[in-house]
Parts: sequence; structure tokens; C-alpha cells
Amino acid sequence: MLEKINNLLLEVEQLAVSTKEQVEEYRIKWLSKKGQITVLFDEFKTVSPELKREMGQKLNELKVKAQEKINALKEKFEAAEDSGKGGAIDLTLPGDPNILLGSRHPLSIVKNEIISIFSKIGFTVSEGREIEDDWHNFTALNTPENHPARDMQDTFYVNINPEMVLRTQTSSVQVHIMEKQKPPIRTISPGRVYRNEAISARAHCQFHQVEGLYIDTNVSFADLKQTLLYFAQEMFGADTKIRLRPSYFPFTEPSAEVDISCTLCKGKGCNVCKYSGWVEILGCGMVDPQVLENCGIDSNKYKGFAFGMGIERITMLKYQVKDLRLFFENDVRFLKQFTSA
Ligand code: DAH
Repeated sequence: MLEKINNLLLEVEQLAVSTKEQVEEYRIKWLSKKGQITVLFDEFKTVSPELKREMGQKLNELKVKAQEKINALKEKFEAAEDSGKGGAIDLTLPGDPNILLGSRHPLSIVKNEIISIFSKIGFTVSEGREIEDDWHNFTALNTPENHPARDMQDTFYVNINPEMVLRTQTSSVQVHIMEKQKPPIRTISPGRVYRNEAISARAHCQFHQVEGLYIDTNVSFADLKQTLLYFAQEMFGADTKIRLRPSYFPFTEPSAEVDISCTLCKGKGCNVCKYSGWVEILGCGMVDPQVLENCGIDSNKYKGFAFGMGIERITMLKYQVKDLRLFFENDVRFLKQFTSA
């Protein structure tokens, strides 16, 4: 009897059939009233008591396995029947237009475009961390505690450790890079930043920035201007003009804010540029020598420029998006208007 059980077990394991009807034939052969397994259960009654335990276990195992195999094969053939006649899938059928294709988020589209523009002139991409220590977000960038410039950015502090903040700017990545790498450095750092601001059409508690950093022995303000002009024309069109206005950032000296000629009215004046013909896109400047020293770079030997822009701002200008909150609501009616290659 043991041999019969073992042979059947093998047969169950190796069963290969190609139609639903064959599955049914095997069900009858094994498990029907007169099936081989049912018959074995009858024989089992006559097995001597000392063998009953072992034999019983084996027999049960055989029954369970046979049942499982039959069920699985049945399901397989039924599923195939549901999805196409005779179990075959018709690969020549046209696609289903009701299946919606996803699209990239507009902020990702613009971020990738920024990366691609700067990579053409040799900038690498680097990333930092969103939970940052005070040194990298502020102090190394010439903004020690109690410095009035800290008020420029409303900061989220981490409750359990007031030394840690949610980074308010991707400028913090500059510090990491300069601490780790020797010049020449040419890198951009895209990422998410946080500020404790009331949410409105023009402000949010989270947004995205791209930081740029270029350090070498002979970097000048003219290099900065030319780099930004190249960027503006690649991003907004070859006829785009730029304008630099003196400004203040703690980590650059001199510092400037950069405007582009209004993308909508081409400088004639409209409500996007508030009838000035210009819209601001970023902040920039020559890296303050003290910041270089803070990060272990010899400021007598090296100079550098830096800039930082908001990805939301660039995206709003490029696509005429009027409300910042749309980027975070994930409403498909908004998102499906954007396509990327
Ligand atoms: N971190 C600044 C901000 O969030 C932007 C910025 C300005 C970055 C000037 C820079 C820079 O690298 O040089 O407002």
C-alpha cells in the first residue's frame, strides 16, 4: 500500500495537462467515489495498528496534494477562458483607451530640465539631507544664532533636538560638498526645503530648490552672469534677457537677485510681471571667503559663485501656473495637462 501511495504522490506532483477536460478526468480517476485515492482510504481500514499512524499521514498528504493540484489547474484554465477564447490571449487586439497613462509631475519635469541644462556645461548633481543640523543650514553659511538674517527664513526646529532643523534652503548642500570635496567643484543640488509659512497661493510650508555651486581658482562674477544667462535662455527661450539687482545673502558677497524679461509679455508689461517687464527667478553671488574657510577651502587660492532658485517659481513662470498649492494637491485634472518626453 505504501508503494501505491508513493507512486500516486509522484503522479500528482508531475501531472501535466493541457485542457480543463483532462483535469476533470484526473479528478475522477483519483478522487471520485471509485477513484484510486478513495479506494486507498477503504484499504486503510485493514492496515495493522502499528502502521496506521505513518500510513494515515501519508494518505492524508496524498489526498490534500491531489485536491490542491486539481483546484489550481482548474482555476488556471478558467482564468485563461475568461481572458480570451480557448485560453489564448489575442496579442493583436488594440490597446484599451480607457487605461489611463500616468505623467510626470510638473515639478519633476522642470527639475529634470534644470539638471539637463546645467549638466551640458559640466555641473554634476548632488543631494543632501532634509533633516539638517544647525551648522550646515545656518552657521557655516555665515548665519550664526541670533544673526538677524535668520529671520529671513521661518524655520521648523526638530522638537527632540533643537540643534536639528528641517532645512530651509538647499544651500546646506554646498557646505557638505565643500567639506568633502576638493575644488574644482561644479555641482547643482536639487531638493525639498521647508519653511514655517502660512499656506497660500504664493507660499507653502514645503517647496523645492536647486542650488548651484562653482569653485575654482579663477572664478569671476562675469562667469556667474554668463552661466545664468545661458540657463535663462535654455529654460525660457533664446530671446530671454536677464537683469541683476544688488541684494543681500549672508553667504555671498557681493550678492544679487536675478530677474528675467517677462515670459508672458516679453517685457512690455502685464499682470504677471506687475507691469515692470521683469520677474525674479533666483538669488546668487560670489561665495563669501569666510564660508569657504568655514568649509576648509583656502579662500586665498579659490573663489566661487553660488545661486539658488525655487523650482515651483520656475515652473509657475514656464507654465503660467497661478497657485502654488496646485503642485501639492495631486488633482489629476491639473497633473494630466503636463507631459514629458
Ligand atoms: N538660499 C537662498 C534662499 O533660499 C537662495 C540663494 C541665494 C542661494 C543666493 C544661493 C545664493 O546659493 O548664492 O533664499
